[in-house]
Amino acid sequence: MKEQLEEIRRRALDELTDGASDQQIEAVRVRVLGRSGELTEVMRGMREVPQAERPAIGQLVNQIKRELEERIEALKLRLRQGALERSLAEARLDVTLPGARVPRGRIHPVTQILERMLDIFVSMGFEVAMTRDVEDDFHNFEALNFPPDHPAREMQDTFLVGGGLLLRSHTSNGQIRVMEERKPPLAVVCPGRCYRRDELSVRASPMFTQIEGFMVDRVGRITMGHLKGVLIEFLRAFYGPETGVRFRSSYFPFTEPSAEVDIHCLLCKGAGCRVCKHTGWTEILGCGMIHPNVLRAVKLDPEEFQGFAFGFGVERPALLKLGVDDMRLFFENDLRFLAQFPSLAGGAA
Ligand code: DAH
Repeated sequence: MKEQLEEIRRRALDELTDGASDQQIEAVRVRVLGRSGELTEVMRGMREVPQAERPAIGQLVNQIKRELEERIEALKLRLRQGALERSLAEARLDVTLPGARVPRGRIHPVTQILERMLDIFVSMGFEVAMTRDVEDDFHNFEALNFPPDHPAREMQDTFLVGGGLLLRSHTSNGQIRVMEERKPPLAVVCPGRCYRRDELSVRASPMFTQIEGFMVDRVGRITMGHLKGVLIEFLRAFYGPETGVRFRSSYFPFTEPSAEVDIHCLLCKGAGCRVCKHTGWTEILGCGMIHPNVLRAVKLDPEEFQGFAFGFGVERPALLKLGVDDMRLFFENDLRFLAQFPSLAGGAA
């Protein structure tokens, strides 16, 4: 019986080599140590062993059992460690590999130009107020002194939304909204989107950006002279200190007197070229002293208050400033185009 046990042990240890797999180890365990395994079988045969030899045989069985269990445990531990090391080696991070580039967003060129313009007004003490794109007839037209049948309403070819609402055709509604809520003195610029039923073309878009600005205070405190001063200051800060500026008298329902402002054509600097139709000048904004009827519409007495207003589009100056020759490029959002305008301001990324 002893030889039989030694044989079981030898065979088992032969199979439990250093390179044994999980399955091989498990097979040996079940065959030798399992409930109906070889060692159990030997114990069953104990009855035939003479009484005197039984303790020695029992001891041998236990010893073999322990020995094999330890061997199996050691092998399994090794396997687990090996697996861990392999998976760590496979998943090793190579910090020298170049990273995947995350594409960096940029501020839209029109927004960059808008922000630069607003910065100039802020530096002169204006505050910025956003009003609303969906407006009613009163704030877009009536309060701005457009009579119901005024041809300018036709001229502006407005998008109607229904329910008496429309998409504002200019940011002049900002004047009305702000003055309804707050009393002068006021110096405010209202940037925002405007909408008109124009086809998208090289020079126009049905959606565009404007800045409306106005200043109101007690009569006598704000004159046409201040209007000229503020606008010349703004235009020279934006287009350069040498820029030629001229005021021409004009007409708007919401200002009296009204003026349009031209600057020297940026391309020919006043000499005359194809872009300025050989005039040397480019029309850039509208302005004037706020009409008494506009002040009345926001319940300000024109005997007591007075102010100026101006308004202009942002896309055309952006075209000139950035040397872009087609308005449509601003709205197509082709990243190859947009990526050409990293932050102009140098600050905002
Ligand atoms: N609202 C005018 C437009 O859309 C621009 C404008 C002209 C605004 C004269 C003004 C102004 O405040 O005084 O063309």
